[in-house]
Amino acid sequence: MPFDPARLAAIHAREADRYASARPLSAARARQGTAAAGGFFGGVPQHWMLDWPTPFPLVVAQAAGTRLVDLDGHHLTDLCLGDTGAMFGHAPPAIAAALTRQAQRGLTTMLPSQDGEAVAEGLTRLFGLPWWQMTLTASDANRFALRAARAITGRPRILVFDGCYHGAVDETAVELAPDGSTRAKPSLWGSAFDPAAATVCVPFNDLDAVEAALATGDIACVITEPALTNCGMVPPVPGFLDGLRAATRRTGTLLLIDETHTLSTGPGGWTAQAGLDPDIFVAGKAVAGGVPCAVWGFSHAVKAGIDRVRATLPGGHSGVGTTLSGSPLQLAALRASLDYLMVPSVYDRMITGAAALEQAVRTAVAGAGLDWSVVRIGARLETVFSPTVPRTAAQMRATFDHPVEAAIHLGLLNRGLLVTPFHNMLLAGPDLDPAAPRQLQDALAGILADLSGAATTRAPTPVPHVHDA
Ligand SMILES: Cc1ncc(COP(=O)(O)O)c(C=O)c1O
Repeated sequence: MPFDPARLAAIHAREADRYASARPLSAARARQGTAAAGGFFGGVPQHWMLDWPTPFPLVVAQAAGTRLVDLDGHHLTDLCLGDTGAMFGHAPPAIAAALTRQAQRGLTTMLPSQDGEAVAEGLTRLFGLPWWQMTLTASDANRFALRAARAITGRPRILVFDGCYHGAVDETAVELAPDGSTRAKPSLWGSAFDPAAATVCVPFNDLDAVEAALATGDIACVITEPALTNCGMVPPVPGFLDGLRAATRRTGTLLLIDETHTLSTGPGGWTAQAGLDPDIFVAGKAVAGGVPCAVWGFSHAVKAGIDRVRATLPGGHSGVGTTLSGSPLQLAALRASLDYLMVPSVYDRMITGAAALEQAVRTAVAGAGLDWSVVRIGARLETVFSPTVPRTAAQMRATFDHPVEAAIHLGLLNRGLLVTPFHNMLLAGPDLDPAAPRQLQDALAGILADLSGAATTRAPTPVPHVHDA
């Protein structure tokens, strides 16, 4: 840790006090939520909302583009964007208009709507795969795609990389134990089976380990992000993704590329930008502009496999599909996203903004005399507390410093910048205020100076309040 722990703790406590005293309305909500005899568990509709380093959750009054207003009237620049769900900005006008139109025609019917053909064609144009299915979440898409992979290949296991996250998908919730074996993540609740029995986990960027695992012949599918984004950000080393593709082809193993986060890379995600050729492709979160929606696409060969398997099975529950998936509401949003959001001009603005944020972080970090690095994948960037960019999750974990992260996150929030509670990720939406990078640079420089004891302690410039805006 580059900072004195006692000083760090004192700064965290001071920033937590500042946060709390500026938010009486949110504090009252939180008190009600936790004191009630029932209601939302933890006072929030989804328990992940308690992961922020704030003393109680920020209650959102309104979010549009990359601006967010909290219940107490503070205006914030949002660099978290719903942890990617709102990567193209909150409530993009094209999505809002499509939803309003579709609301006059029916929201869910369990039947196709007239947008279907245009959406399927648009997905193929953008991501390259010929066949598509829709789900509500990326977790669902991954779960269903892995089921299909096992059914087609007749093989029981999958391969994942240490540090991966692919959603609430039991068989992917594993990690490498210190002895090199695969184990269930210790934080997992109530699994119906031991995920380590269904999965082999190897280090990212380690082709030898991949080859050895695939040589067993019992791996149906390798599922991976093109760069790990859920364990800090670990990019692939040159040749790794090509080697992975070659090894999976040679062993008859399917390759599933999960672009739920790396959709930030550019139009078509990393797959289109780098010319990957996966058998199965998944994208969720932001793919329909913030409406709950994910897609999984697959090759002609995978389709032929699914057709063959289905022909051998009786009708009935397949374990794949949910009632609301592919609804007219989702189709309308996805069509608008294909037409107006996942297009080069929007990505150009996001990537220009992210490059400016990257420069701002680098300047603040260098000014504080720290040797941290920054990784950027298109519109998404991550600060790493080490001079070199890790090649594996184990190396990345060794850089983690949660108390420092939390103090920085709280400090930024008190200076008007909302960042994700998970590691040091920042996202640039298309309408990022051109003043935001400078705001970030100044805020981060102030916090780092404070942490290192180089600053004279002074209150941050107050976040603009809605009443005086
Ligand atoms: C790469 C990746 N895949 C899948 C998911 C699951 O997405 P969801 O929570 O929307 O199901 C996530 C969530 O963070 C993710 O990062």
